[in-house]
Amino acid sequence: MRFIVQGNKKLEGEIEIKGSKNAATKALVASLLTDEECVLENFPQIGDAEITFDLCRAFGSEIKQDGSIVSIKTPSIKSATASALSRKNRISILALGPLLAREGKAEVPVLGGDKIGHRPVDIHLSALKSLGAEIEVSENSFIASAVDGLRGAKIHLRYPSVGATENTILAAVLAKGKTTLKNAAIEPEIIDLIKMLQNMGAIIGLGTDRTIYIEGVKKLKGVRHKIITDRNEAASFACLAVAGVKNKIKVKGAIHEHLITFLNALRRVGGEYRVEDDGIVFWRGDGLSAIELETDTHPGFMTDWQQPLTILLTQANGVSVVHETVYENRFGYIEDLNFMGANIKVFSKCLGELNCRFNGESYPHSAVISGPTPLKGRSLKVPDLRAGMAHLIAALIAEGESTIDGVEEIDRGYERVDERLNKLGADIKRV
Ligand code: EPU
Repeated sequence: MRFIVQGNKKLEGEIEIKGSKNAATKALVASLLTDEECVLENFPQIGDAEITFDLCRAFGSEIKQDGSIVSIKTPSIKSATASALSRKNRISILALGPLLAREGKAEVPVLGGDKIGHRPVDIHLSALKSLGAEIEVSENSFIASAVDGLRGAKIHLRYPSVGATENTILAAVLAKGKTTLKNAAIEPEIIDLIKMLQNMGAIIGLGTDRTIYIEGVKKLKGVRHKIITDRNEAASFACLAVAGVKNKIKVKGAIHEHLITFLNALRRVGGEYRVEDDGIVFWRGDGLSAIELETDTHPGFMTDWQQPLTILLTQANGVSVVHETVYENRFGYIEDLNFMGANIKVFSKCLGELNCRFNGESYPHSAVISGPTPLKGRSLKVPDLRAGMAHLIAALIAEGESTIDGVEEIDRGYERVDERLNKLGADIKRV
């Protein structure tokens, strides 16, 4: 499937953001911890949700979807093995904890997902092992067991990995005893997971300095939970609003608290915004200026915001520097941007001051962007989900026609984004 985009249209009006992909998929896995029904509101209709439905169904979940409301119930674990499923996303490893809690054993496929770096899972595995899981890694799957059940433990993550933090929480809530998780990730999607689990009956405390305390309970119950809105959609639409000279877009449902660091960066570039009760309105200010920026774990500048902001920086006056410190290989989309007329060079040296794990390695993780450069419509192929959205934003601000192939990748994370953007005045045809 492809998009044919006529660029440089004036975009104006209101776009409502959907439920967060990276919170919704985890909420499905959390529901596996109980035999009661969980009802998830504000659930996005995206490809990654479908992939996660298949995973949960393989374990015995009954799932009903009515628009943005999903009900999921797993009365019993019919099978603790889902190794035959494809490796389309990175959620399956999170099911190990719930399956170990309910069945004492589990087998899930090794992970797939975007090609944005090596993406090892050593931190997940070592945390689960600390909780008493025995894990064997075969060519296609992770095979885990906890014959005597999981036990609380003191765990220090070597890096505040989002997935490993979620994995530890999901495994520890039904473990015997207390778990202290240090150097945990504290992204809004993790707080959303904690809120859902707390309402299911879990005991989870948030300490200062990235510490999470979990006291295992015997049983969790069903819940009705509203998924937070997607802060990546919010940032993408905000960058799109500011990148076009005449645009003014209200991003309905954008949550100020989740976007504090993003809004600071946007203001430094020259974007204007007004926070309202039900969303944030974005437009371009008097002129756009180059900035320097480093991605980081929350509350730093999120790695998934890096691509839309980089496109915006191609329209800013001067030389900008972006240092990506979360993934070693997340500038794959730059080649296409340069093909459209951008002037971006990627370097393996750390061009920033954060303590970066990629220092001294040969990963292309720093970008220097010289602007402003008008972009021209081109034929593009989507390399991964977030880069796909970057291609779409670039095509929307470019002069002329672009074709974007591999739209299925964009659909994995963004619900009918073409239809929603067309309502603002964009011209995107899906063929
Ligand atoms: N890492 C390890 N070992 C591990 C786990 C992670 O070395 O065991 C490294 C990774 O290789 C990476 C870094 O730690 O360099 C961060 O990975 P993290 O575990 O924090 O990320 P994740 O859980 O795999 C989630 C989102 C990503 C988002 C990151 C960072 C989901 C499904 N994915 O990934 O979102 O970029 O957190 O916020 O929640 C996306 O939505 O397109 C996406 C890639």
